[in-house]
Parts: sequence; structure tokens; C-alpha cells
Amino acid sequence: MNASAPPLPAVQTIALTRTYGPMVALNALDLSVYKGDLFGFIGSNGAGKTTTLRILATFLTPTAGQAIVLGHDVVREADAVRHVIGYMPDFFGVYKDMEVTEYLDFFGACYKIPTAQREKTVNDVLELVGLSEKKGALIGALSRGMQQRLGLARVLIHDPQVLLLDEPASGLDPRARIEMMAILQELQKMGKTIIISSHILSELQTLCNRVAIIERGKLIYSGPVQGVRDQMATGRVVWVRVKSDQQGGMEILKARSEVTEVAARDGQIRVTLTDHETDHSIVAEALVHGGARVLEVREDELGLEEVFLRVTRGETQ
Ligand SMILES: Nc1ncnc2c1ncn2[C@@H]1O[C@H](COP(=O)(O)OP(=O)(O)O)[C@@H](O)[C@H]1O
Ligand SMILES: [Mg+2]
Repeated sequence: MNASAPPLPAVQTIALTRTYGPMVALNALDLSVYKGDLFGFIGSNGAGKTTTLRILATFLTPTAGQAIVLGHDVVREADAVRHVIGYMPDFFGVYKDMEVTEYLDFFGACYKIPTAQREKTVNDVLELVGLSEKKGALIGALSRGMQQRLGLARVLIHDPQVLLLDEPASGLDPRARIEMMAILQELQKMGKTIIISSHILSELQTLCNRVAIIERGKLIYSGPVQGVRDQMATGRVVWVRVKSDQQGGMEILKARSEVTEVAARDGQIRVTLTDHETDHSIVAEALVHGGARVLEVREDELGLEEVFLRVTRGETQ
């Protein structure tokens, strides 16, 4: 792909709004997901993820605003949208007494895949999700991770370009989660555009090339995962150890305008800088300049999850 070409939008929402009675579940949400993205859609419970995905999947109509999937409006061209998307709900009834192949064959028939072609299609999607060995198994006998992968196989049956996956990793053990993530990466390589929701930011941090964070129906952040920390982190925290005169060192730091808070903790000084743009080297400089003997200066890596919690608790901005 030409790196300088502008990315092509696959999914776009424009001032997308949805109310349930007096409750505003989505509040003028603007989202852009580009072709080939493995896009993380993140928000705590009740943030509006399922509402958004259901609108994109044409199951729910917006109260106001617009949503477009591969050029098709989800309201006016719902049929066209259904052909190009695969939607995996957060909870889908499992047909416990059905065999794996029967189940997929059934959905293949729903999508009007000709009988002659169906067996190959079913085999292909089973291969993709690593369930080829389980063809004849009853769905009820599969592990939770396998059932989730079967759900994924189901949404792949008509070879959709855009996948909308609502918390597909929730309730999975770490191993099953890793397996799910590996399949999603494989699908991305095949050229699919994937939107995956989660209420756990760190779960998607290594998987997705871009993320959006929503809270109470509003977009808080959209962009690369790395940008979350840069944009959201309030103050940086730096830990300092000085030789002997800790009190003196603290006084030096308190006098600096870049420093908002200085505290003694476990034989170290905990320094909070005014904003994340401030280079933490000012701490060492100030101390050395003030005559303190610096043993160690170490920046606290603010974990992504911590940033996310702060954001969703409304502690930033
Ligand atoms: N059918 C509904 N009737 C009333 N309120 C709803 C309905 N569905 C969702 N909500 C509310 O809309 C908000 C967003 O819900 P949802 O989209 O399910 O969030 P998420 O998937 O991020 O947890 C929540 O406050 C939820 O209680
Ligand atoms: Mg949900």
C-alpha cells in the first residue's frame, strides 16, 4: 500500500446519537475506522459500546446522526450493510444440542450459500478458527473459548469485509484469550477490518493498531494506542533517591514551578510534575544545581490501565 495515500474509511459515525427514553446512551459520537484496522473500541460498562455496534450491525436505529459502513448508510441501505459485516454479539444463544458443522451449515444456508459450496466454506472457517478437529462435536461440549471461536466462525461464513465483535474475549481464560487474539491478527492480515470492543484497555493494547475510548456515550480519545498515554496522562511521577539530606532535596524540588507535589515515601522522594510534556530531567538538574547528591531518578511508567481508569473516572481534563 502507498504509505502517502490517505487511509480509506471503512466505518464512520457522524454525530451518532441514541437515546433510550430520557437516557442518552450515545451522544454525538464521531468515529472513523479505516480499512484494514484492527480497531479497539474501549469503554467501561454502560459506556455505549454495544449500542454503537448494534447500530452498525443494523439491529438498532440511531436517534440522530449517521453511520456508514463501506459507503452504505446503516439505515437507508441496511441490506447492503448486512452483506459486508459480520456481527458477533456480546451474548449469543448457543445451540448446545447442535453439532458444530450443522450449526455453521445452518448459517451458511441463511446467507444463501449454495449447498455444493457450503461444505468447503464451513471447512474453511473452521480451519481459520482452529476448530477443524471439532466438526462432529456437540456445541454444548465445547469449552467457552471454543464456543467463542465458533461464534467467530459463524460471522465469517459469508466472508464479510468488516467484523464487529462485541467483547469476544470476555470471560475467557488467558490462554483462550491469546488464541482469540491470534485469530484476529490472522484475519487482519487477510485484509479484514475489525472492530473489537472491550472494557479492558490493556487487553487490546498490543493487539490493535488504533483505539477509541468512549465514556457515557462520548468519544474521549481516538488514535494509536501509544497516544492514549501521551494525551491522557495528567502529571508524570518521578521517584528520586538522594544521598543523606532528603529534606533538603525536597525543599529544592518544591521551589520549582514544574513540580506540583513532593512527598517522602519509603526513603525516596515522589515528585509529580505539572504536565506530561515536562521532561523529567529537570528533576535531576534542579537537585544537582541545588547541591543535592542524586543517587537515582526514575520515572514512573503510568500503566495504560491506570490512565484508562483516570480517564473514565473523569480525573483528567
Ligand atoms: N434497551 C435499553 N433500554 C434502556 N437503556 C439501555 C438499553 N440498552 C442499553 N441501555 C443503556 O445505555 C447505556 C449504554 O449501554 P451499552 O451500549 O450496552 O454499553 P456497553 O456495551 O458499553 O456496556 C447504558 O447506560 C445502558 O444501561
Ligand atoms: Mg456491551
